[in-house]
Parts: sequence; C-alpha cells; structure tokens
Amino acid sequence: MSSDATPGAPEAGQDRMAGTAPETGSAKTDPILKADGIRRSFGGLTAVDVEHLEVQRSTITALIGPNGAGKSTLFNLLTGFDRADAGEWSFQGRRIDRMAGHKVARQGMVRTFQLTKALTRLTVLENMLLAAPGQRGERFLGAFGRWLWTGQEAANRERAMELLARFKLDAKKDDIAGSLSGGQRKLLEMARSLMVEPSMVMLDEPMAGVNPALVQSLLEHITALRDEGTTVLFVEHDMDVIMGISDWIVVMAQGRVIAEGRPADIRSNEHVIDAYLGAHHDEPGQGAQQKEEGP
Ligand SMILES: Nc1ncnc2c1ncn2[C@@H]1O[C@H](COP(=O)(O)OP(=O)(O)O)[C@@H](O)[C@H]1O
Ligand SMILES: [Mg+2]
Repeated sequence: MSSDATPGAPEAGQDRMAGTAPETGSAKTDPILKADGIRRSFGGLTAVDVEHLEVQRSTITALIGPNGAGKSTLFNLLTGFDRADAGEWSFQGRRIDRMAGHKVARQGMVRTFQLTKALTRLTVLENMLLAAPGQRGERFLGAFGRWLWTGQEAANRERAMELLARFKLDAKKDDIAGSLSGGQRKLLEMARSLMVEPSMVMLDEPMAGVNPALVQSLLEHITALRDEGTTVLFVEHDMDVIMGISDWIVVMAQGRVIAEGRPADIRSNEHVIDAYLGAHHDEPGQGAQQKEEGP
C-alpha cells in the first residue's frame, strides 16, 4: 500500500518533518492518520480530549506524557479497542472511527498487545500464526475453501518464520511463549503485530521491563520498520530513547495534546517541562521518567 516503500524512501538523517510547524494540532505534509475531536470519559474523568492530531507517514512519532495523560486510552480508541464518546478519524484517507479493532487492523493499523495468559501457554510459532490475517478456513467450508486455506496457512507460516528470524526468535519457535524472557516477549509482541503487514504500528511502552542489551535491538527494529516505510507511533518514558529515535514528538497531559515538535523543540518547550514537573508534584514517586507496568 505504501508507495513510499523503496524509491522515495527517506534517506538516513533526512528531516522527515520538513515543512511541519512545531505546534499543537499542526498539519502534516503527508499524514497517514488524521483525527478530530476525539473524546473519551470514564465517569466524570475526561481521559482523552484531542482536538486535532495528524501523524506523518513513514516516521517514528513518539507519544509522551505523565502517567494518566491518556496515551493508552488514545491508542485504544484509534485502533478500535475502545469506543470514543465523540470524534472522527481517518487512516490512509478512509474513515475508521466506529470500526471494530479487527477491521482497523485489516486496514493496516495495528497496536501491540501483551501476551495474555492463554497465549503464554502456546508455542512462539503458534502465537505468530494466531495473529495472521484472515479466517478463510472458517468461512469457506467446501473443498475449494480447504485448498485456499491450506495455501494461506503455508504463506502465513512462511511469513511467521521470516519475522521470527528477523527478531532472532526462530530458534525458539517451538518453545512455550511463557518461557521467554521479558525482552523476548516484547519482541514476540512486536513480531505478532507485523503478521498483518501493517502500514502503521502502535507500540505502547515496547521497552518497559526490557534489559538494556535488548533495548538496543528493539530500537534498531523500530528504526528499520520506519526506514522500510512503516509508520511507527510509540509511547515511551525514557527521554534518551525518545530524543534519540523520534522524528516527531506529541506530548499529552490530562487528555489533551499540549505540544508537538521535533526532539529539539520539545526539549526546550515550557509546557512540556511544566507538565512533567506538575506530575512530579502531584504524585511523588509516580514520576514521568519512571517505567510503569502494563497497559
Ligand atoms: N477502563 C478505564 N476505566 C476507568 N478509568 C480509566 C480506564 N482506562 C483509563 N482510565 C483513566 O483514564 C486516564 C488515562 O489513562 P491512560 O490512558 O491509561 O493514561 P496513560 O497511558 O497516559 O498513562 C487515567 O486517569 C486512567 O485512570
Ligand atoms: Mg499507558
């Protein structure tokens, strides 16, 4: 789908955000995702209230903000795993608000999920195959359907093994997923999300609980995805990581986007500094730099 795959792929060091103003809600030159007026409340609490947001295609965009800022809720809304109270958004020019999660994934926008308890009891390869697109085997019951399904299964297996090799998990294909280290689980979660060949991946704290050696490898995978033309939106707390790999940073606080810009813009932005300091004052020990557990 992404016409930017090879010939026009941005070169290393190129400013992929050229022509974009470092302002909240700013228009992007080639947006893959555009959202307006997304709101979600839980009881009396407004978790997300985003007026306008665009994500530039083939970039690494970081979504940052203090704990409770609404980052995970925004991910859930955009990917169809939670229902917004209001808002319209489109992906690659097509409206996807009100679309169920599996349909959003079919459009090419996926988020990673932590392996559930049930998945940890399956093998690494089984986990990959379960994340594969299409359920033709269930829909077509005739002999022709079975033939189709077998062909699809072979293709899925091939893609699964390619991805496992890429994430250096191929030797573990028959291991039970629950036996993987924390870092390897994160790699498997990312590999699973790529089974549907997404144009955009959303990673919610992919580095949380991962040892430093594996963090480097995760970062390389994220950068490689972007360089292949995949759009990456990720939530992370480690400022060195964020500043190091992001083309663009979106800052949320109390449900709203309060700043956007390149790493250099964000580093010097007073609103951002206030938001983080505010979080420190309000909740001692819940600092924005701290890694939190799970979604
Ligand atoms: N399912 C839910 N029910 C009630 N409140 C929720 C739910 N999910 C999130 N919240 C609240 O919404 C706010 C935003 O949460 P979240 O999106 O998880 O923030 P972040 O990911 O930025 O840490 C928090 O105050 C959180 O407690
Ligand atoms: Mg979160």
